[in-house]
Amino acid sequence: MDLYEQRERRRAKLVADTPLTDLGYFQTNNCRVLPNRLELLHHLPGRGIVAEIGAAFGSYSAEILARNRPRELHLIDAWDTDRYRVGMKEIEKSFASEIRAGRLHLHQGYSTARLKKFSDNFFDWVYIDTNHTYQTTWEELVLCDAKVKREGHIAGHDFCTGNVVRPMVYGVIQAVAKFCAEYGWQYEYITLESHGHFSFCLKRLGL
Ligand SMILES: C[S@@+](CC[C@H](N)C(=O)[O-])C[C@H]1O[C@@H](n2cnc3c(N)ncnc32)[C@H](O)[C@@H]1O
Repeated sequence: MDLYEQRERRRAKLVADTPLTDLGYFQTNNCRVLPNRLELLHHLPGRGIVAEIGAAFGSYSAEILARNRPRELHLIDAWDTDRYRVGMKEIEKSFASEIRAGRLHLHQGYSTARLKKFSDNFFDWVYIDTNHTYQTTWEELVLCDAKVKREGHIAGHDFCTGNVVRPMVYGVIQAVAKFCAEYGWQYEYITLESHGHFSFCLKRLGL
């Protein structure tokens, strides 16, 4: 099998393994468009218990702290690849005072393993930004359904079908649509950055 054929087979498998879900009007009619994910931080409840799942070097964490002012911010990240390994050390250094004050907590490990360790109904909101595959995003969303309070919010990054610069297929849109349909959530905000790497935010149906 040549390289072209291998790539085509991988692509076909990805499509076959990623189910598509039709949304109802009731899942989108309360959704508002925001210009960017920084603005989103002003629309999420402040002074809460928050998780950023996939924090890398802490650049969005800094924005969460400054703009949303959570009571506690929990960063969950594997920090296990050459690209991101140094992120944890950098965060420990640049956010030393927040860590000492008990405002910032670091949890190293895979998102799905670490999320299970929190009590149910713990978070006011979470922001998912890990590997963007369909399977991981789906598992993270299902875990967050239990870990986020009834009136809470689930947000996340890279609400798009992939990275076209460094070719990579994402499954975030498909996982989020299936999650809304099966777990009773609706879209609350979508951001519309011109680079196309949008964020989403969900709340439960009926709220
Ligand atoms: C795109 S970066 C996060 C960027 C960050 N949210 C920001 O906006 O500044 C993705 C991060 O997710 C982490 N990651 C990837 N897959 C993961 C997984 N399955 N569990 C935990 N962390 C993961 C990587 O280590 C990396 O630090």
